Amino acid sequence: MDLIPPIAAAVPASYYERHIFFCLNERKNGENCCAQHGAQQGFDRCKALVKAAGLAGPGKVRVNKSGCLDRCSAGPVAVVYPEAVWYSYVDASDIDEIVESHLKQGVVVDRLRVPPHLGR
Ligand code: FES
Repeated sequence: MDLIPPIAAAVPASYYERHIFFCLNERKNGENCCAQHGAQQGFDRCKALVKAAGLAGPGKVRVNKSGCLDRCSAGPVAVVYPEAVWYSYVDASDIDEIVESHLKQGVVVDRLRVPPHLGR
């Protein structure tokens, strides 16, 4: 009898194929935050597009809100897992491209990636 289960049995399949988190953090003290840069609109658009495309649900895509992800200087930001790809977006067409390319086809949108050095 094996004491160590095979990896496939030990690591369950991901509940979602992809998970995108949008920072919606708002600071009332005037400091920079994603909420000042259209984060809610980006989140709402992504959620609506994913739903309309039939991509939402277990085994598919989940669109979630998050608090500060500590990369505020690149805001508004969103991150897609399991690839751990960080995006910065400025308008609706950027969201459309993330949904169409990354969330639908698994193709990263390089032009919207957050440079690795940008943090808070
Ligand atoms: S406020 Fe959005 S990453 Fe910090």
